[in-house]
Amino acid sequence: MPFNFDHPPDRRAVPALKTHRIVLGEDSDRLFAAGVADMDFEVAPPILDALHARLQHGIFGYEAVPDGLIPALTQWLRIRHGWTVDPNHILRAPNALNSLAIAASAFTDPGEGIIVQPPVFFDFFDIIRENHRTVAENPLILRDGRYEIDFAGLDALAANPKNRLLFLCNPHNPVGRVWTRMELMRLGEICLRNGVLVVTDELHGDIIFPGHRFTPFASLGSRHAANSVTILSPAKSFNIAGCCSAFTIVPDTDRRAHFQAENSRLTVNKNNAFANVAMMAAYRDGGAWLDAVIDYLRENLSLVRTRLDEVPDVTLIEPEGTFLLWLDFRALGFDPGALHAFLRGRANWAVTRGISFGAQGAGFARLNIACPRARLDGALDMLERALDNR
Ligand SMILES: Cc1ncc(COP(=O)(O)O)c(C=O)c1O
Repeated sequence: MPFNFDHPPDRRAVPALKTHRIVLGEDSDRLFAAGVADMDFEVAPPILDALHARLQHGIFGYEAVPDGLIPALTQWLRIRHGWTVDPNHILRAPNALNSLAIAASAFTDPGEGIIVQPPVFFDFFDIIRENHRTVAENPLILRDGRYEIDFAGLDALAANPKNRLLFLCNPHNPVGRVWTRMELMRLGEICLRNGVLVVTDELHGDIIFPGHRFTPFASLGSRHAANSVTILSPAKSFNIAGCCSAFTIVPDTDRRAHFQAENSRLTVNKNNAFANVAMMAAYRDGGAWLDAVIDYLRENLSLVRTRLDEVPDVTLIEPEGTFLLWLDFRALGFDPGALHAFLRGRANWAVTRGISFGAQGAGFARLNIACPRARLDGALDMLERALDNR
């Protein structure tokens, strides 16, 4: 089925965060809005149809979880990722960040450490700090243009009994690594040996480029599954972050009870009728659309790669998945403030500052390529002109 990703609706017609003044500032119209991690593509037709049908019903009172939702999710995970999940292990959540926060508060005490591997999704830091836990940083290693886990560093942090939990980003936003089975096994063994619980955020797990394979952490086997909490949702894959909720998968019975008790204490228990309908349609009937999106993203990636090949001072960190590119501007020699001023002021690029992902992101920026190709091409023109006139 053909999909049109070249001419999406105008995001400025609604208060989309990506193009909104609270993210872009007042002079936003001139900017290439490529920061917030959602896509500029209209959603899959089955999702639109399902939402229309639900709207037509005309009553939006309290609702239970539709019978078909959890089977749609488990079937998706089995067929797409070869992971069989017991439906009884799946809990509902309003969004992924909420699950991260509840995991932090349920499984650690105030003051204890949560390990993160920066540069990493900035909300990990906020959640840890706002829950009065301590950030324990195990920075990734950039070796020959590719990020790797520092296993020795992880071992040392995990051995400290104050560090009881790890926030894993799998695949890794912003550096685009799709952790391999071997890497996850090694990480999982270190965590098991040291009694560190793995809380794995797998929101980007569906957007994987050819040649790579997404491994859900809990699919590694029962020992690792028992030591894990998985957080996922179709928000990123199907571009429904504005009308989506999330899932938390907790295989261990005691931990699940503990997580549920925390949910209950915070009364995290309402269902959103539109989220349910959109998610069920996505997982049941959205596969063809998602495959087409991945093809389109590959072409966008190839455009960026080809054009940046001509730009000596900017290096693309080759992504293995996600629609987020990690660009290395360090050769320009700017400090983080000057790089941001250059990108925004000269190139008209509203991208996410590398430094938001941790100190290791200084000199980098994150570019979202889930937009029409012509717009991306125009943005690359603006960058080249800004570099030429530097
Ligand atoms: C890795 C990761 N986790 C979680 C989120 C946010 O998820 P949610 O909107 O469901 O809270 C994002 C959004 O950018 C993300 O990149």
